[in-house]
Amino acid sequence: MFREVLNYIRPYDAGIFPEDLYKKYGISEKNVVNLGSNENPYPPPKSVIKEIVKESSHVNRYPDPSYPELKQKLSEYTGLPIENIAVGSGASEILDSICKITLNPFDKVVIPIPSYSIYILISMLRDASIEYIKTEDQNFEFRAEQVINFGKDVNLIFLNSPNNPTGKSIPREEIIKIIEGTNALVVVDEAYYEFSRKTIAEKVNEYNNLLVVRSMSKFFSLAGLRIGYALSNPKIIEMIEKVRLAFTISNIAEKAAIKALEKQNWYLKIREKIIAERDFVMREISRTKGFTVIPSDANFLLIKLPAKVNMSAIMEELNKKGIIVRDVTEVPGLKNNYIRITIGKKQENRAVISALRELSLKW
Ligand SMILES: Cc1ncc(COP(=O)(O)O)c(C=O)c1O
Repeated sequence: MFREVLNYIRPYDAGIFPEDLYKKYGISEKNVVNLGSNENPYPPPKSVIKEIVKESSHVNRYPDPSYPELKQKLSEYTGLPIENIAVGSGASEILDSICKITLNPFDKVVIPIPSYSIYILISMLRDASIEYIKTEDQNFEFRAEQVINFGKDVNLIFLNSPNNPTGKSIPREEIIKIIEGTNALVVVDEAYYEFSRKTIAEKVNEYNNLLVVRSMSKFFSLAGLRIGYALSNPKIIEMIEKVRLAFTISNIAEKAAIKALEKQNWYLKIREKIIAERDFVMREISRTKGFTVIPSDANFLLIKLPAKVNMSAIMEELNKKGIIVRDVTEVPGLKNNYIRITIGKKQENRAVISALRELSLKW
């Protein structure tokens, strides 16, 4: 009665939440340093919160399922016409819709790894056949040829730039070579675009096989409201609109996103703080014995730990101090011990640096 593939799928592991630390160690949520999910540590500006409260009195009504106002604002933000834009409940919904429009059972998908593990999950749910490119031994980089060599019968390619969990951007020339060298739909997930400022979005009308995915969860501090969007040529956008469920963005989320897009200067100041902190954390942790930090274009850092350490003991020690980081050792494509830390507020970053220093004294 149920699908075979479900026997092989584990639900997405979102890591540890502050409530878990309260239950386990009695640490109250306000004292938790939560650097596990690449979120923005700052809540959105007051005007966005006000808009959320204001819109809450209209929740007896459905939102307009074509979201014209939000698309108009995104059009101004991206510089692309609204025909090039589809919106969804987070980048996650867009990614799932992409699989729905491209994949029949046994169709081929290419995924360089390590990367955002949802790509694997949603491809498996379409019974697709996944080809991986392992990048850890190549300094987490890959060449276009490695992707193109899988041949002309590939349906879908997932690229992530900057990539989660490595923080590395894919060079523009390589992305273009891949788009031009394949018949597959090339998805470039730019969830962290605002931190890198590197994008391929202006090319979506030049190719019939390019789709850029963006998220408002990171730079725009709206992870809890679930807003993402796709940028692609109108034909692909139309297909996304066909498979997407109506009303998946609430009217509260839509209005908050519109307001946030009007407040870019506020967000740019936050961005500067996060980037300066990221570079500080990178320098400090690189100086600490036993840690290797991968340079990042995003709001998080991937850090390699010595082979001898016990990762679950380390996570427990950090959690006991009220610190949440992500153990990504089990992410497909990683062979060594790694943690990923999100850049938080100044004090939070100092707390994680000193906790890691303390740990390293025992090695
Ligand atoms: C690379 C990447 N893409 C997409 C997402 C999901 O974003 P959203 O919250 O918009 O669904 C994430 C979330 O961590 C991510 O890291």
